[in-house]
Amino acid sequence: MEESYKRLIDGNRRFALTKKFEDPEYFKKLSLGQKPEYLWIGCSDSRVPANEVTSTEAGQIFVHRNVANLVVHTDMSMLTVLDYAVNFLKVKHIVVCGHYGCGGINAAINNQVNGIADNWLLNIKNVYNKYSGELQEIKDPDKRMDKLTELNVIEQVRNIAKTSIVQKVWSERPLHIHGWVYGINSGLISDLCVIHDGQEDIEEIYRYNIK
Ligand code: CO
Repeated sequence: MEESYKRLIDGNRRFALTKKFEDPEYFKKLSLGQKPEYLWIGCSDSRVPANEVTSTEAGQIFVHRNVANLVVHTDMSMLTVLDYAVNFLKVKHIVVCGHYGCGGINAAINNQVNGIADNWLLNIKNVYNKYSGELQEIKDPDKRMDKLTELNVIEQVRNIAKTSIVQKVWSERPLHIHGWVYGINSGLISDLCVIHDGQEDIEEIYRYNIK
């Protein structure tokens, strides 16, 4: 068997043993159910794992990931995750987490032809077109891509807020939607924006603008 593949199974055995050693009840407790307070909508990129970058454990974050962390209103998979997270798990926060150096953003901005992915990436091109004036003023291609990455997160936060699922929840209880960007080269998250229940529009923060 290929070594790198075998490593996964060996790693799993080590994981199970270590967790059980630290807390003999660890898996028993998890098997009773989940009560995460957060829904994470992130990029499929292998370098941005929700639990690792937030130092959280299994059971703490409900996760949905796709290429370039998009919220598309016809995406049944995303809508199912969102519905389950807010109406059954009753999460208190939704986080859209993009990341600098995103391949999806790069492909969209450079008009690379990717076959089937082009249909998906069109959603990013729409964000680009919406802010084309602002983006074209940025001459440095890397900085322009970073800005599109941030604007894309903000647009996806808006998209979640517009769903009938979230609108209904806001008439019943508080729910906060956050927009983050993760720096692959720093390990740090920038807190870009938030929408609280009942607010008209997004509150831009740029609290820790670290790349
Ligand atoms: Co990405």
